[in-house]
Amino acid sequence: MSRFPDDFLWGGATAANQIEGAYNAGGKGLSIQDVMPHGVTTPRTPLPTDDNLKQIAIDFYHRYADDIALFAEMGFKTFRFSIAWSRIFPLGDETEPNEEGLAFYDRVLDECEKHGIEPLVTISHYETPLHLTEKYDGWVNHDLIGFYERYARVLFARYGTRVKYWLTFNEINSVLHSPLMSGGINTPADQLSKTDLYQAVHNELVASALATKAARELAPSAQVGCMILSMPVYPLSPDPDDVMAALTTERTNLAFGDIHVRGEYPGYYLRSLSEQGVNLVITDEERALLKENTVDFVSFSYYVSVAETADESKRVVGPGNLFPGVRNPTLKASEWGWQIDPVGLRIVLNQFWDRWQKPLFIVENGLGARDQLVEIDGQKTVVDDYRIVYLNDHLVQVGEAVADGVSVMGYTTWGCIDLVSASTAELSKRYGFIYVDRNDDGTGSLDRYKKKSFDWYAEVIRSNGASLTQ
Ligand code: BG6
Repeated sequence: MSRFPDDFLWGGATAANQIEGAYNAGGKGLSIQDVMPHGVTTPRTPLPTDDNLKQIAIDFYHRYADDIALFAEMGFKTFRFSIAWSRIFPLGDETEPNEEGLAFYDRVLDECEKHGIEPLVTISHYETPLHLTEKYDGWVNHDLIGFYERYARVLFARYGTRVKYWLTFNEINSVLHSPLMSGGINTPADQLSKTDLYQAVHNELVASALATKAARELAPSAQVGCMILSMPVYPLSPDPDDVMAALTTERTNLAFGDIHVRGEYPGYYLRSLSEQGVNLVITDEERALLKENTVDFVSFSYYVSVAETADESKRVVGPGNLFPGVRNPTLKASEWGWQIDPVGLRIVLNQFWDRWQKPLFIVENGLGARDQLVEIDGQKTVVDDYRIVYLNDHLVQVGEAVADGVSVMGYTTWGCIDLVSASTAELSKRYGFIYVDRNDDGTGSLDRYKKKSFDWYAEVIRSNGASLTQ
């Protein structure tokens, strides 16, 4: 018997810069991703360089129809993609949008509609127009709020009747850890003042509220969600100091849900800002905007959990999603060192539901792994049992959370088709049900092949989760 609601939105997730390619086609302007050939691992380059896999990515810009047909073959109910801001406003600060860019997403939506797939659209996913970064220092500058609002209004006016589910900013809390990628901030992280960093976050939060307000005016049937990078933080030991340390670390992420859902800065967040000597400029008008335009639902990514301890001598730190965390000795890790914790997903779902009482949408979860393309019965494929196990175990925990009474709207696996990874800009870190023949050195035919997990996920969707192995 399936525990998943009948209208559960099964699907997959992507982001424009990681799939589209065509980085300067159709009037598109440059984005920060064009000067980040190696993700967050090295400083930005002054100009775009040819070693940037994202210039072609997996060429979704030209192959979207075939790719969406493959998603439909798996039975996707929803497809999460993002709109490249610099396709719509090539510089970011113009007054008129680029019609060719808008028309591209019309065509993507046509394909979704043809297959009965509900689009789930991220307005800004790690690709601030480069001009806004270089001229304004990205989200540090208050002017970005207006540019983003104009962009969001254009999207709601154009697609508001076709797109029901919108996310304002991908993983908004990651600005604190990846100021360039997440906040379009040109000042190098080690030279950025805390006040500027938190002001950038504040500006994004205000922009998110303004987008929500605009959606209510221009697309009344739309639902707007925030998107948070979730990473549950467990105390390394039962020592109360460790428990408090874990809570304090976890609140650096939870604050963003608190603000989006409750419409105000929580006391613990204000205390932490004042202890860090941060002086934010917040107007009364902005306070009112935050309060009056809270989100309809909360979406989040989930890949890893971490631990925390107050005892410096026990802080053994390892990689997490975009920021590190204390290793949990009870867990195994992926090839990239991200610790795998299916139960953590049930914990997050329960915690978020208890805390916010808003419907939850898991919009990213998946395993980045080095896949081996093999030939079986004359067909090229990948026998990715490890991915099946990872996804199965996480989905079982989603089912448990549903049984716990948590309201879960849907689940979109990250990188339903292989794409360029965000943190390290590699193609060899593969997440997809569909293998894309392209390698880290840029070679490859770009042909698509179904992995073993393709049929597995199709059956999970067809059976509404009943086929999962408990
Ligand atoms: C999330 C991002 O942080 O994690 C995605 O929203 C990203 O853009 C995903 O791709 C997985 O991270 P990575 O670095 O493995 O691509």
